Amino acid sequence: MPEINVWLDMIFTTVFVLVVIVFSVHLLFNFLTGRMYRRFVKGEWPTHDAPLRMLPKFLHFQHVVCMFGLAFSGMYIRFPFFAGGRTAMRYLHYFLMIVVIVNLFARLAYAFVGRHKDRKQFTPTMRDVKVAPGVVLYYIFMRPTKPHVDHYNIMQKLVYIVFALLLFVQAFTGFSLLTTVFGINIQPLFLWWTGPIGIGVAAGAAYSRIIHYIINWVFIIVTVIHAYLSVTEDYPAFTEFFGFGSANYDFSGGHGHEPAAHGAVITGHGSEETA
Ligand code: HEM
Ligand code: HEM
Repeated sequence: MPEINVWLDMIFTTVFVLVVIVFSVHLLFNFLTGRMYRRFVKGEWPTHDAPLRMLPKFLHFQHVVCMFGLAFSGMYIRFPFFAGGRTAMRYLHYFLMIVVIVNLFARLAYAFVGRHKDRKQFTPTMRDVKVAPGVVLYYIFMRPTKPHVDHYNIMQKLVYIVFALLLFVQAFTGFSLLTTVFGINIQPLFLWWTGPIGIGVAAGAAYSRIIHYIINWVFIIVTVIHAYLSVTEDYPAFTEFFGFGSANYDFSGGHGHEPAAHGAVITGHGSEETA
């Protein structure tokens, strides 16, 4: 299937360039509308009501490192863009893929069990759906403030859920590309579905490679957007998340809030905030 691979390269490099252009324009609008001034000069940042805990920060940091390493080594496996790195890059990919999977399970365990479980922060609610148009309008500069009804907004929640789901598919399709691990044939575990749909194992591996490569690009693109928004929308939270600063806190019992359009700050208890 060589031609589909050429198509995928063309499509995704184009999408990537378009995303960079769109978000450069977004950044420009951030300046033109005064959002950057209000945030970075006047210090009007969203406030948070509880400090971020160490473990999720640590797990997130590991995710970032692993995902960069996996994207880099994966792209090298596909396009060896310098000489002599083949074996090292493969082993780097194999090592990081194990770390990222352990990390993913650790984060899911943290989300679902124990005293500090935070899965509810990621669960979309009816209220999220109701204010979703407002969130979109805020991001495209059609309204001055973002509706605030929960710790994360609906778009963040969806992206975080999609990250986890895609990582599972990425792990599954990745393992489908391996034939043996420590001398054991693992294909029956990951390519069992090829028999029932009547295609050979080789074709199954070829499809898996295509999906693995598509998701590779989706991760690269979504991570660029996620990183850009995390820095521009809430720089203090970004510094705290990476361990070199502090988010903006309001422990007065509010639900956390977004700054209002002209500097006045409205604290919400779950209600929609407008300027
Ligand atoms: C989640 C666990 C993952 C597993 C189990 C996995 C496994 C693999 C394996 C076994 C290969 C083939 C290596 C070889 O030929 O020696 C591969 C290739 C690749 N991986 Fe992963 N990987 C994972 C995650 C990722 C992630 C997160 C990315 C990107 C963000 C990525 C990007 C790639 C790319 C671009 C290739 C080259 C594919 C090609 O040749 O078309 N992988 N992966
Ligand atoms: C340079 C890359 C990245 C930067 C700068 C970044 C930044 C951030 C920041 C600042 C937050 C906290 C948001 C808040 O609490 O208000 C966050 C949350 C999150 N990010 Fe990232 N991120 C990056 C890459 C990634 C990657 C590669 C993944 C997943 C594969 C990811 C998944 C998540 C998830 C699931 C959350 C929710 C909170 C949590 O995990 O505890 N991020 N990110």
